[in-house]
Amino acid sequence: MSLRLDALWRNLNHGDGSERDASRIALGVADGKIAWIGPEAELPAFEQAPEFAQYDGAGAWVTPGLVECHTHLVFGGNRADEFRRRLAGASYEDIARAGGGILSTVAATRKASEDALFAAAAPRLRRLIAEGVTAVEIKSGYGLDARTEAKMLRVARLLGRELPVTVYTTFLGAHALPPEYRGRPDEYIELVCADMLPLLAGQGLVDAVDVFCENIAFSVAQSERIFQAAARLGLPVKMHAEQLSNIGASQLATRYGALSADHLEHAVEADVAAMSRAGTVAVLLPAAYYCLRETKRPPVELFRRHGVPMAISTDCNPGTAPVLSPLLTMNMACTLFGLTVEEALQGYTRHAARALGRVHLHGTLEVGRHADFALWDVDSLAELAYWLGASPCAAVIRHGQIVHGAAKSSDC
Ligand code: NIG
Ligand code: FE
Repeated sequence: MSLRLDALWRNLNHGDGSERDASRIALGVADGKIAWIGPEAELPAFEQAPEFAQYDGAGAWVTPGLVECHTHLVFGGNRADEFRRRLAGASYEDIARAGGGILSTVAATRKASEDALFAAAAPRLRRLIAEGVTAVEIKSGYGLDARTEAKMLRVARLLGRELPVTVYTTFLGAHALPPEYRGRPDEYIELVCADMLPLLAGQGLVDAVDVFCENIAFSVAQSERIFQAAARLGLPVKMHAEQLSNIGASQLATRYGALSADHLEHAVEADVAAMSRAGTVAVLLPAAYYCLRETKRPPVELFRRHGVPMAISTDCNPGTAPVLSPLLTMNMACTLFGLTVEEALQGYTRHAARALGRVHLHGTLEVGRHADFALWDVDSLAELAYWLGASPCAAVIRHGQIVHGAAKSSDC
């Protein structure tokens, strides 16, 4: 069958992140998908679609579009005041127990209009796109009532329609206990399972279900009820697990075939072994570790030994990670957690896509995947994790269209 292309990108550098693997490649796009990729010299004869365009990558490095697999990007207000309190010595848990933390963002998010939430989130998302992001997961969890959770998820869906990025939504109704259910956590869990989740899933607002399983949030037994409700609706699950302590969260997640267990600073070898058996991705969130000035690092060596894929993400949220830079997050993953540059890149592409259950669409440069890729003005891919406070992102292409930066058209 003859190859027909809408666009051809030539003169791109490609490799696994180290200079010695660099090779100039070409990448052909048809119908928003990668239709051909390989060394320029091997490009076969092809037919040009009517609007065919050819671009000169000018030796830029190409990577798959970055995949942000864990964010709380939609929220009202911010928590700069809490930042001050933590600097003055209060801990994240102290603040949460005193009714602040997540609950202060819940109050602000309940008050905010849908338009206001969109207006606040859109510039955040544009910043992620400008650093190479082409797919992002956005969680609810600052509403904790059906009306506000739905509002957050609708805003997330709207962001995906209005901005050039693919949005996956995650329902995190079990993020914290809302004030009106104080002392009645099981009743709140019942509300989430019996009312909120089926309602929101029925409105097509939920791609996956998450739970914050922690001493200051929900127990293993409560989390399991949420997972059972998700299973009844056929929705995949993931979990905020082992962030501040180990209460058996990730092992529960693996029993429900979770796509990912996230944070994992306090995970032990039995947890890691269970994740390996279940194929659960470890999502590492070094910016939250950094902002909370944690000292216990996730067991990276055990993930390697047990073959558990490690994804990384900003965790963008107003409390523990007011972070809008995937590249800074990659640097933190390397500097604070000891990942190699190659692991950090895979963590932001292939493994992040897997953490979303979307590895067939995103995260690799292969024929048939979305034509989502980023071009970088660097001498080697190590520079992506190396510079702090600068973005060498030259262009971002999503579904074959340039959505950020510029690229040279060429006749060559
Ligand atoms: O991933 N751990 C719980 N959830 C978020 C924090 C949310 C917040 O503090 O607003 C996290 O760190
Ligand atoms: Fe989070």
